[in-house]
Formats: sequence, structure tokens, C-alpha cells
Amino acid sequence: MRRSHLLTVSFLLAGLSVSAIAQEPPAGPRQRLLMDFDWRFADGDAGGAEAPGYDDSSWRRLDLPHDWSIEGPYDSAAVTAGGGGYLPTGVSWYRRSFVLPPGPSNRRVAVQFDGIYQNSDVWINGTHLGHRPYGYISFTYDLTPHLVEGENVLAVRVDNSKQPNSRWYSGSGIYRHVWMKLTGPLHVGGWGTFITTPEADSSSARVEARIRLENDAYISHSGSVRSAILDPGGREVAFTESPFSVVSGRQSEIEQVFRLTSPSLWSPASPALYTLRTTVEDGSGGILDRTETRFGIRQIAFDADRGFLLNGERVKMRGVNLHHGGGPVGAAVPEAVWERRLRKLKEMGVNAIRTAHNPPAPEFLDLCDELGFLVMNEAFDEWTHGKVEFGYHIDFAEWHERDLVDFIRRDRNHPSVVMWSLGNEIGEQHAPGGDAVLRELVEIAHREDPTRPVTTGNDHIYADDGATTEAFMDLLDVVGYNYVDRWHERRELYATQDRHAHPDWKFIGTESVVVWGTRGEYSLRDDTARARPFYTATMIRPEQLWKFVSLNDWFMGDFMWTGVDYLGESRWPRKNSTSGVLDLVGFPDDGYYFYKSQWTDEPMIHLFPHWNWKGREGQFIPVLAYTNVDAVELYLNDRFIGEKRIEFPRQGTTGTWNNYETPPVFPTTADLHLSWDVPYEPGSLRAVGKRGNEVVVTAETWTTGAPAALRLGVDRIEIRAGERDVAHVTVEVVDSDGRVVPDADDLVRFSVDGPALLIAVGNGDPTDHASYQLPERRAFHGLALAFVQSLDETGRVRVRAEAEGLAADSIEFRVVPGNPRPRLP
Ligand code: GAL
Repeated sequence: MRRSHLLTVSFLLAGLSVSAIAQEPPAGPRQRLLMDFDWRFADGDAGGAEAPGYDDSSWRRLDLPHDWSIEGPYDSAAVTAGGGGYLPTGVSWYRRSFVLPPGPSNRRVAVQFDGIYQNSDVWINGTHLGHRPYGYISFTYDLTPHLVEGENVLAVRVDNSKQPNSRWYSGSGIYRHVWMKLTGPLHVGGWGTFITTPEADSSSARVEARIRLENDAYISHSGSVRSAILDPGGREVAFTESPFSVVSGRQSEIEQVFRLTSPSLWSPASPALYTLRTTVEDGSGGILDRTETRFGIRQIAFDADRGFLLNGERVKMRGVNLHHGGGPVGAAVPEAVWERRLRKLKEMGVNAIRTAHNPPAPEFLDLCDELGFLVMNEAFDEWTHGKVEFGYHIDFAEWHERDLVDFIRRDRNHPSVVMWSLGNEIGEQHAPGGDAVLRELVEIAHREDPTRPVTTGNDHIYADDGATTEAFMDLLDVVGYNYVDRWHERRELYATQDRHAHPDWKFIGTESVVVWGTRGEYSLRDDTARARPFYTATMIRPEQLWKFVSLNDWFMGDFMWTGVDYLGESRWPRKNSTSGVLDLVGFPDDGYYFYKSQWTDEPMIHLFPHWNWKGREGQFIPVLAYTNVDAVELYLNDRFIGEKRIEFPRQGTTGTWNNYETPPVFPTTADLHLSWDVPYEPGSLRAVGKRGNEVVVTAETWTTGAPAALRLGVDRIEIRAGERDVAHVTVEVVDSDGRVVPDADDLVRFSVDGPALLIAVGNGDPTDHASYQLPERRAFHGLALAFVQSLDETGRVRVRAEAEGLAADSIEFRVVPGNPRPRLP
């Protein structure tokens, strides 16, 4: 298709008193209908199920998003093996019949799948629309020419049978939303709006929008494209109108420019979001189309000396890697599950996320825009070199350009996305000719989005054999290092030598060591004389790394592996990795508080381990604390044990000789944690934290009694009807004093009363193979969790939990009217 370009002038509205909230103009023929409901599902292959007349009446009825792998069971012999968390995969089918809502006969109708894992084939009324291998990509098919009056049938075959095809748990099925998109014949194209903010500071901004019009009508169309910018409060602050003219069957790209005064700049601390409302009108003012595109106004820069700059200010990326799965809910993750996880990470001080190692769900990025995270958006885990037998390398040659283009076009208006990662630990980094593959990908990324840099996560940096080639790294806008401290002197110096050798390179830690551990596990091992418990050592490497990252401006930041535990990448009997600082259901482990101590200022102390060491009386138990205060005093049963101090970064004189900005601290350790060896006796351990001479925080841990009761909590007192919203109900097993019993593993049974559904249970135990769908779960180190989802009705919901021999508990929350997205009936 040929494109014509029309550049237009902007009208400055900012500064005028446009005080009224902009009224929503009529939408025109465009509709976006959620197509998640009332599907039929068959587990296994079903020959001929693409035919509209196929009898699917015996198939299971369900709503999307749906991941059938998470339904289990776990099997140590499963073909997915440890990579896929020992869960089942295979072939399955989905069918949905529908009647088009009333509307003009010349409408265009398309279906958009946000993600199908994987190898999907889609048919409408028996006609094959296409095949799409990559399980993480969003894609659209035009249904218009194949639709009939009355009932239409969409059929989808999903083939996740070739295993292994992933190094982590993927899920199987239509695990993201499905949308029907209805437009008039002259319409803004899919992912056809691209908004950039080439100039932006607190006094003014220049916003540019490229809008692609497509004319699928038999006649030419002309008229005007009227675009308004709405500020975060919904007020119109700028407006532009451009003429257009597109002949039949062609496309045309309109460029519009806006000037805004005193914009609210987007940042993690203040994630202000604007909307571009574009109305396409014909010559007589009839509305042909209308779209709304959310964006943020911000400036990003990547500087070889100063690091990452957001709106002119240096921001160190305090990042985590995240896989796409949601733990017990599998790959079909309700938005509220992500929201809870992201809020917890934000409270820990995280400001950046790498979407390891594939395109995320669109609503994940919406949340990052809204909550304020910087996103390194990653495309692939494999190019032409495979890591697993049936991985993406099989499809790379045919699909990489299409997938990368679709990925970037879908995501390039998100202000949270600040860079593209084209791949993780890609074989090409050290293979002959690997740079040629990278070169092509970089060209595609730069063509589709000239505003963001590209990187890759490289793990073979300066290996003796097969080191990442300089030709490869030279092509990257930002050089990404995975586990840089694996290599030679880099164990101590990290990327310092590389910085000296390549002062023009820009460096970032794409993936690094985390404070590893399983929540609540503090084995002292049996050899008491030589006890070297894991929990005393696992923070040392992240501490060293963080010192390096935080002290060197030129190193932009680091993404540790990982923010949340994820299914797969484990060895039987474990079915999930415990690299997260949040476990599979979102309970923090000790590592969480290490990062919190380094990344937040509100006074905190986290004291561990628990203090239930019956049988070890008199034995020295290492007691540790993470803190952000100057000094911590420890007391055992009110007896003073000792005071310890951290000082990081170390104080130096400033300005004049012997002049300190704050009184020097005399540290007792060069680590970023404190530790005491305390001879065990039951009772209480209390930590008192001081800044200067003032007590600013205390923390306490106790020897508990036996489990006596359950105690429920809920993260929300209201959830919304019609939005498949989720309340997270936490269960604590407590003693008669209400203290969580650290080794409690009682079996908890749940029941739900009211308009909500128990969709999953979990406890974070990597070796627990019980079904996530049963209304019961053992506590793991005293905790369990239930995911309770709203339906379409409002009302009061009561969740009750019982366990044998313990006092039961119940908790209530309300389902209130929501704002459901329009649905296809
Ligand atoms: C990295 C890899 C991640 C994950 C991790 C496990 O090398 O990029 O995907 O496998 O190791 O420690």
C-alpha cells in the first residue's frame, strides 16, 4: 500500500482557560468488545472442529483467559520436565459462536488475541485465518469477508505438544484476553497511532503523533483528523486538526504536532498519563472513527558517563526480572494479581522491570504506566541458536520480523517502556556471524521506534571460550550484562575494566544475582558444631553488587533475578524456582527486606530467623538484620546483646578538611546486613533501631506456642463486579498470643459465600504438588493464600477458613459496582 504524508499545524490551547472536563464526543462506528466469555474448550485434538457445524455441545464451557496446564496434575515424568514445572501440555481446541451486534453493513470486524500459547491456528466459519507460532505475541485477524448473517463460529486450535519448548513454565491455551474490534471502512489502523514527546520539560512539551488511516471502502474518503490531548484530569489542553484524503484500498499517515505548557511529566514517582483523542470526520462532520491512546510526557536519555536520565535527572534502575506467569493462577493472570505483586515490589523500592524473556500482557504494561515502573521490554529468549529442542529458534527465520514489528508497534506508546531488549543470553552473542543477526534486529527496532535504545542481556562476557564478541556489543545502544561477576576480575570489579576499554559504551546490568532462598526456611543443618546455615550467606553477593551499582553513575542500574518466584526451571520434587523475593503467592522472603533496606528511607528493621529453636538451647544461632538506620541494638529477653552499625556509602570529608555532612558512624561491618551470634533461649529478640541518638524503629520476634487459630486478612475491602477483579485472602496460623507459628503446616479448608469464586489457592512451597484449584491448602511456614474473584453480581462476600484443631476465622469484603469493559454478547 502506498502512503501519503500530511503534516499539519497545531493550535495551542494550553494557556487558554479550558476549564471544563472535555465531553466525550460520540464514538462513531468503532467498538472494542471483550470476547472472553462463553467459550467451549476441548482438551486434546478434535478433528474437524474448525467446521461451523461441528458438535461441541459436550465440550467444557469456560471463560477466557484460560491456561489449561495449571490445572495439572504435576508429574515427574511430564514432557515439559523441570523447565515447564512438570505440568501437562498438549493440543487443545476452543470454539465460540456469536452473532454480530447490530450495526452498519459496511463495518470492518477483526478479532485480536493478546496471547495464545502457542502454535495457534484460527478459523472463522471454517475458513483458516492464519497460523501464529510465537506464544507471547498479540495478533489480529480480519473477519469481515467471512462473516455471515446469524451465527458465526470462531475456532482455535492450540498446539503446545512439542516439548520442551521453553525454559520456564509457559502455560497453554488462550491465556490472555480476546477482543472483537469493529470499525467503519475508513479507520485508524491497528496499532496505527505512534506518539512521541521529542521535547519535554516542566515548562513545555512538544508532542508528535503519527496516525495511520486505512481506507477499506470502495470509495475514496477525505475529511479531517481532529485530535485533542486530554491531561491526567481529563481536560483538553491541546488540539490539532489535519485534512486527510485516502483513496480506496490505500493507507495514509497523518503527522500532528502539539505544544503544551507546564506538562505533568511522567516518572515512577509521579506517573502522569495523558490521552490523545483522535476523531476522524468526513467532509460534512460525520464521524468515521474515533480512538483514544494513552501516553506519558517524559524525556529519556542514556549517557555513557551519567547513566540513565529521566526528565534530565539521573535515575538508577533498581530492577527486577519478571516472568509472565502468576503462580497458582498460571499464565492467565488477572490484572489484580499483577497489581498486588507490583505494589509490593514498589514498596520494596523497585523502580524498573525487565519482562524476562518475552512480550508481556498489554495490561501488565498499563499497570507499569499507572504505578510508575521503568520497563525494559524484552522480545526473545532465542534467535537462530536454540536452547531447548522446540524453542523459538525453529520459527525465528520466518517470524522474527513480523513478531518484532508487532511487539514494538503494540507497546511503543507506553511511557513505562524505556528500552527494548532484543534477547536474553542469545547464542549469537558469541557465534560467528551472530552480529549480522543482531544488526537486522536493531535496524527493525530503530525503524519502528527511533526513540528508545536497544540492548540484549549477555552472559558470555569475557568467557575464556566463546566470549561475547565486541562486534556484537558494538551494535547495542546499551550493553547489557547478565551476571557480570562470573568472569575473572569482574568478580570484584564488575564492569569497571570494560568501562575503561570502552568509554563510549553505555552499561546496564540486565540480569544479576539475587538474595536467594525459600521463604521461612532456616536450616541450621545437622552438624551443629560446624553449622554454616545458608541464610547467613546468601545476601553477600547481592550486597557487593549493589555497592558497585549504586556507586558508579555510568552503570545505569541492575535487574536482579527475580522479583517473584515462578513455575518451572526447577528439579523434582521442586516445581518452581525460588529466586524471587516474593514467593509464588506474593509473600515476601528475607531478601525482600534486604532490597527494601537499600532502596527505601522510611526507618525499617527486618530481623531473622524465627526464634523457635526447641532442642537447641545454649547453641549459638546467627541472628541477622536488614536495616536502613544507623545503628541497631539487640536484646534477648530484655538483656542487651550488642549494638551493630552499617555505614554505606562510607562517610568522607566534604568541602574542607575534616568536615563531615553528618556525624561519622563507626561501623561494625562492611556488609550491608548486621549479625549477632546469640545463644538460644526461648523468649523474645528485640531490635532497637536508631538514627543519631534517636530511636526510630523497633522489630521483635518471639518463640511461639503451638498453632491455636487461623487469622485471615484481605488486601482489599472492595472489589469490582464485572471486571474479574481479585481479592487476596491471606491465612496466618497463629498461637494463642496471635503470633504466626513459623513451622505451621496445617491443612486449611476454604469456603466462599456470596458473589465470588475461589479461583486458586497457594502457599509458596516449591515442593507442594497439590492442586491449585481445590478449596484447601496446607500452610507453608505458617502462611497460605486464597485468590477470590468477582463475578458479575455485587454483594457481600464471606471467606471462611478452617483447620483441624484450630479456631476457624472468616473475613468479609464487598463486591461493588464496577466498570466492566463492553462485551460481545
Ligand atoms: C539466567 C537466565 C534466566 C534464568 C536464570 C536462572 O542465566 O537468563 O532465564 O534461567 O539464569 O538462574
